[in-house]
Amino acid sequence: MRAIGLIGLGVMGRNLALNLAGHGIAVHAYDLDEAARTGLAGLESIRLSRSPAALLAGLERPRAILVMVNAGAATDRAIESLEPGLSAGDILADGGNAHYTDTIGRARALGKSGVRFLGLGVSGGAEGARLGPALMAGGDAGAFRELEPILDAIAAKAGGRACLGYFGGDGAGHFVKMVHNAIEYAVMAAIAEAWFALRHLAGLAHGEAAEAIAGWNRGEAQSYLLEITADVLGRIDGASGQPLVEMVLDRAEQKGTGAWAVEASLALGVAAPSLAEAVFARTLSSAKEERVAAELRLGSPLHVDPSQRDALRRQLPRALFAATLACYAQGFQLLAAGSSQHGWNIDPAAVAEVWRGGCILRAALLDPIAAAFRGAPGLANLMLDSALAAAMAEREADWRAMVAAALVGGAPVPVLASALAYAQGYRTKRGAAALIQAQRDRFGGHGFQRIDRPGNHHGPWSGPE
Ligand code: 6PG
Repeated sequence: MRAIGLIGLGVMGRNLALNLAGHGIAVHAYDLDEAARTGLAGLESIRLSRSPAALLAGLERPRAILVMVNAGAATDRAIESLEPGLSAGDILADGGNAHYTDTIGRARALGKSGVRFLGLGVSGGAEGARLGPALMAGGDAGAFRELEPILDAIAAKAGGRACLGYFGGDGAGHFVKMVHNAIEYAVMAAIAEAWFALRHLAGLAHGEAAEAIAGWNRGEAQSYLLEITADVLGRIDGASGQPLVEMVLDRAEQKGTGAWAVEASLALGVAAPSLAEAVFARTLSSAKEERVAAELRLGSPLHVDPSQRDALRRQLPRALFAATLACYAQGFQLLAAGSSQHGWNIDPAAVAEVWRGGCILRAALLDPIAAAFRGAPGLANLMLDSALAAAMAEREADWRAMVAAALVGGAPVPVLASALAYAQGYRTKRGAAALIQAQRDRFGGHGFQRIDRPGNHHGPWSGPE
């Protein structure tokens, strides 16, 4: 296989270099930071270059270079450092978490000199990069075909196939990765809400809650995120002797991919309330000082009710499963809207198949999701698939009871509750929007449509306006 250039030897870049080398692919690597370069010295199939120009000089044409640096300005700088030495036909692949519109812009700019650009979503964290990530590509189709053997070799495998997909023209790969991350935020939040409810609504001790959650990671509910949650909850802090999670500051950070997905859903007119709630929950968590002051002033909303212990222990994993499904339904609707807006023709079944291994979302649930889209490629919403609808319906009573208990007991469960409202709103034939339309017309003369005849209508409002 051809040698590949790699710019950026941070955690992800370094592990991808080792992954490539482990598959017999020669790597010419460069990092601005000399210490990052020397960290990889001495490995036969990794040649460390002293400059971007030297890296390019060592590669056969057309050259293929993978950029593994932080999204944003660092990516621009890395591309700028390579650009003077690039020629028509060379391939540049950006494996960072770039915003898809930046990827579209970079592809256009580089395309003017014939450089072929790929936006490559890479998921799986440090471990995935080393042992096999999920790879979501978009951009120049010919460039993808040329790099496919290399990407195929280093990707995770699931169901006998590489977790690698080409999803369409410029920006498609990073759009798919952005949606992956938004679902990741939502599922992480839903698990965290369920854990919080076990602890502070049902009143379980840390060890009991940890044990219960470890037991959830089975069968159709099995997921990497539940697996790492159980691992996290099993850890004890060396310094204090307390469960590690109890020593972690409850302020969640974010690098932006979840918020980008919510912005995209607003721009595209897709209802993705639970993806948004997950982002807002992180934002609210970051106002730690305000929250502390507010609880001191207003009192805690929490009301532990030990009589609910058994019911909540049974209901929570079932609610979590159904809510997770509703979050996927929102994410896949966003994917479909992005695909149609940009003409990418993203195959949702292929996306679910790629997510089955290597990535943070890998979970047993991706199999029935892939099957749902394979069976009905035009499926408007995952919740309409008969198998998934039955799985949700079977859990709905427990989901409702659990959300009701959380609301009564003052435990914030924004993702679990918004997913339930979404699922219920989606199948409500006649909803509250009739009144909103009448209100709009009442105060602003905006007009409304009637159910019994066509046209734009106004109410018989009278009196002082
Ligand atoms: C992945 C992760 C990865 C990264 C996130 C974390 O798929 O491997 O999603 O991309 O860990 O960007 O994002 P936040 O820092 O925003 O939580």
